[in-house]
Amino acid sequence: MSSKLVPWTLRSGSSALRSCARQQRRSFQVSAASRSSDLNVHRNTSYNNPSIPFQFNEQNEKLIQEVLSRYPSQYKKAAVMPLLDLGQRQHGFTSISVMNEVARILEMPPMRVYEVATFYTMYNRNPIGRFHVQCCTTTPCQLRGSDGVMKAIEEFTGLHHGETTEDKMFTFSEVECLGACVNAPMVQINDDYYEDLTPETTTQLLTALKQAAEKTGAGGHAPGLGGDAGKFEPSGKPTERQMKLGGEGYTAQGATIPAPGPLSNRISCENAKGKTTLLNDPPTAEQILRQDGAL
Ligand code: FES
Repeated sequence: MSSKLVPWTLRSGSSALRSCARQQRRSFQVSAASRSSDLNVHRNTSYNNPSIPFQFNEQNEKLIQEVLSRYPSQYKKAAVMPLLDLGQRQHGFTSISVMNEVARILEMPPMRVYEVATFYTMYNRNPIGRFHVQCCTTTPCQLRGSDGVMKAIEEFTGLHHGETTEDKMFTFSEVECLGACVNAPMVQINDDYYEDLTPETTTQLLTALKQAAEKTGAGGHAPGLGGDAGKFEPSGKPTERQMKLGGEGYTAQGATIPAPGPLSNRISCENAKGKTTLLNDPPTAEQILRQDGAL
């Protein structure tokens, strides 16, 4: 009996050891390593380093005072986001000097400002082109054709995500939902939303922007760097759709840029197939109230 037990004991002992060794070798699961540090690391360059001075101009100084007046003085760091935005608009991008100046004004540790500026993708920490084209590719836009819009942008500009054209006319970014899903697919160009896009209307829009910038010499750098935004004047002849929208397109020496909003027949975000409810005028008070005057 003991002669049968010995090999069994050895076999089960070695199998237990093997399984124990297997368990010890089991590694933790980790997500894929990210090789990109673009989003959260600053590296000094000739155009973006702390020795480049930055000061807010007089107009923005006044705006800063106005913003700060909204907060109790001990909470003025709450103004970090609007001040970074002002800095970006003035300088063209949110450089390290802009961040340091905001930290100085708000009496915050610079690291706290860096944390905000690196978290929000609206702060461009590198120079961008005259037109920053941000294409939404989140699900509602994707389901309604953002792939085609992306392709049209890439073909027109020759860019991929995060790149800027050599003439500094366009920067292209792929972004997550911009909150206009009801009019998907859409792009944001600088401060304007263009919605209900097709590949064709996207190309027409980019062509109009490029022509307008070329005719006025307004291309080549971000709006804040050259102060050229004023070269685009509101159009003197708004179209019927623009009239209904209450907005106007822009003209620049004969080139017209469409008014922001849906580039379709929609005025706003109404049903694209027309009204399906509330087809009649709403009832008047007389019709609603009881005729016997009890109520
Ligand atoms: S999904 Fe594109 S705007 Fe929301």
